[in-house]
Amino acid sequence: MNILGIETSCDETSASIVKDGRLILSNVVASSLKDHQKYGGIIPEIASRRQLEWINIVSTRALAAAGLALEKIDAIAFTRNPGLIGSLLVGASFASSLSFALKKSLIPVNHIEAHIYSNYLVDKKADEGQDLLEEFPLPAVGLVVSGGHSSLFFIKDFRTFRVFGQTRDDAPGEAYDKVARILNLGYPGGPVIDKLAQTVRDNDIRFSCASLEGTNDFSFSGIKTAVLYYTQRHSASKDFSIPRVAHAFQEGVVNVLVEKALLACRRKKATTLLIGGGVAANSSLRTRLEERAKAAGVRVHFPPLPLCMDNAAMVAGLAYHHASSVKKPAMC
Ligand code: KG4
Ligand code: ZN
Repeated sequence: MNILGIETSCDETSASIVKDGRLILSNVVASSLKDHQKYGGIIPEIASRRQLEWINIVSTRALAAAGLALEKIDAIAFTRNPGLIGSLLVGASFASSLSFALKKSLIPVNHIEAHIYSNYLVDKKADEGQDLLEEFPLPAVGLVVSGGHSSLFFIKDFRTFRVFGQTRDDAPGEAYDKVARILNLGYPGGPVIDKLAQTVRDNDIRFSCASLEGTNDFSFSGIKTAVLYYTQRHSASKDFSIPRVAHAFQEGVVNVLVEKALLACRRKKATTLLIGGGVAANSSLRTRLEERAKAAGVRVHFPPLPLCMDNAAMVAGLAYHHASSVKKPAMC
């Protein structure tokens, strides 16, 4: 079954075709990130205008890259929520019009659940025979860490995602972006802070996140404020080092993510841990969690780097598991 997925929840406009919920035949992503950079964050009006311009082009390219005519598509999936309302509307309108015209099923998908699902996708250029579901069986604990979300899920099957922990304030990617702004590192903050942190070996600066003991929740706004106060107090000093501040901040964030994710696996008696979202691209999170999970007898999986960011392949992939319960054609 070939599903055309559409993703327009934030600054990306993406279309992808995924076969049978696992094999990516094409995945085209256009980002308006550059248009937002001078503002230091996403401007929703700009994002949705770009999506309106690009959605048709990106979808046509996805079909061409997969070598499929529109008639060979069995269903259309789109990101229904959460996201920027204007952006979501572009994707929902495009997908529902296509579904109506082609008389094919329309499958709405949750963006955060789709981030988790990106762990099970296989690229047609890579190992087509690989069965990631066999290597990382359900039930699993899922951790989504992005610019807008920080949630822990218990995943019984691909139709049953239960949230049992989330951030009480900022998302971790949001904290990265705010800390980058404090340190004048531009937007988005994650990749640049990650790169700077890797240059630091010894560091006597320490920042930590509130542990919120006894809960599965997170908090990332305190650590951002700690970086702000530290920078205000020390930035004039000759010893002030942006890489060391970036490193200390990253350590604080990664520590809490590693501890809480593994504690959640123990509490849920899960031996599979799936990570998703933009912050899943973080080098320190990947290394530390892999080491610690191995020692704890947990199999952790991160999506390949391009699938950590917003993309339509994760939408088309997850939609496969909802396809049987959707009537066709439907309007959203
Ligand atoms: O999942 P995503 O593309 O969009 C949302 O749904 O939010 O995530 C974007 C977020 C940004 O906040 C960005 O700073 C962060 O992911 N990010 C990173 C890294 N690469 C991107 N954070 C930490 N380390 C990275 N290497
Ligand atoms: Zn996302």
